[in-house]
Amino acid sequence: MENILVIGCAGQIGTELTMALRNIYGNKNVIATDLKEAPSIITETGPFEILDILDREKMRDIVKKYNIDGIVNLAAILSAVGEEYPMLAWNVNMNGLINVFEVAKDENIETILTPSSIAVFGPETPADNTPQETILRPKTMYGITKVAGELLGDYYVDKYNMDIRGLRYPGIISHEALPGGGTTDYAVAIYYDAIKYGKYTSFVKADTRLPMMYMPDCLKGTIQLFQADKENLKHHSDFNMGAMSFSVEEMANSIKKYMPEFEISYEPDFRQDIADTWPNSIDDSAAREEWGWNHEYDLDKMTKDMLFHIKKKFDKGLIK
Ligand code: NAD
Ligand code: SER
Repeated sequence: MENILVIGCAGQIGTELTMALRNIYGNKNVIATDLKEAPSIITETGPFEILDILDREKMRDIVKKYNIDGIVNLAAILSAVGEEYPMLAWNVNMNGLINVFEVAKDENIETILTPSSIAVFGPETPADNTPQETILRPKTMYGITKVAGELLGDYYVDKYNMDIRGLRYPGIISHEALPGGGTTDYAVAIYYDAIKYGKYTSFVKADTRLPMMYMPDCLKGTIQLFQADKENLKHHSDFNMGAMSFSVEEMANSIKKYMPEFEISYEPDFRQDIADTWPNSIDDSAAREEWGWNHEYDLDKMTKDMLFHIKKKFDKGLIK
């Protein structure tokens, strides 16, 4: 692949993945797009265009203009916002995705990567070490769109012999861009509030345990799958991808190792009901076998790094 289109580049993952892709493929060869203006790190280092994923013809024009041969689609409405605006989630996550697949089919795009999520699982799914092949009966509109998106991806692979790849990301934790309205956002907010206030009020209970991953592992794994040898892939749109798994209380205890005065309290809201339907931990052996996935960060290593970077931003006045 030579010219990569990133759709939804201005979000939590896109902000960092776009730059990681530019490091590999060259700044001018990674065309960043989003519905909204992107951070200056993206707009000042390479091509950026405003693109609504729902505008199929503009997407096609951009693909032709830049001679695109690979697409990374990150545009989505996440779980918590999706429960507030279910029709928006359906529209962006489904009609947007089908635009990507249709343009990619018509324009002979070599590889498309579009993430799925642990939100594909539901209360009837085995919660511990959740298998690759299992019950997919989610309770959120976001989860429903992710299951349908996986099926749609595999349909285009089978029917049109396309190369579509997807990962079921766990909650992603990072310090560069804020998360965009998901249930796992508490796992980022806890670090910001630890630095800003020395305390955090969690919107899920102390024993809520979800699969999580630190951004450097997310970037490494995503690029690994994007570049994996097609012949080695038995799965396509739905790879389970795990790294670590911990409760909010365990996160708080990890922060206390570096900030003994840190305090945590709990005021669960509607996001508790979403979290309760998602797994505790993930069996990602298919990803490990088919494209060599492995993770590096555990909870304490991530906590140390998150606190260091957020404190630096705070000290520089970049966050208040
Ligand atoms: P985000 O909400 O931070 O970013 C999404 C981006 O999509 C935003 O910049 C937004 O402006 C853009 N967008 C929204 N509507 C659009 C539209 N109509 N046209 C074009 N762009 C639009 O999300 P993220 O965390 O970066 O997630 C990226 C992908 O990873 C999504 O598919 C998401 O479902 C998946 N995922 C994320 C996580 C996580 O914890 N961050 C976990 C599982 C899966
Ligand atoms: N982090 C995402 C969310 O909470 C999981 O897909 O919505």
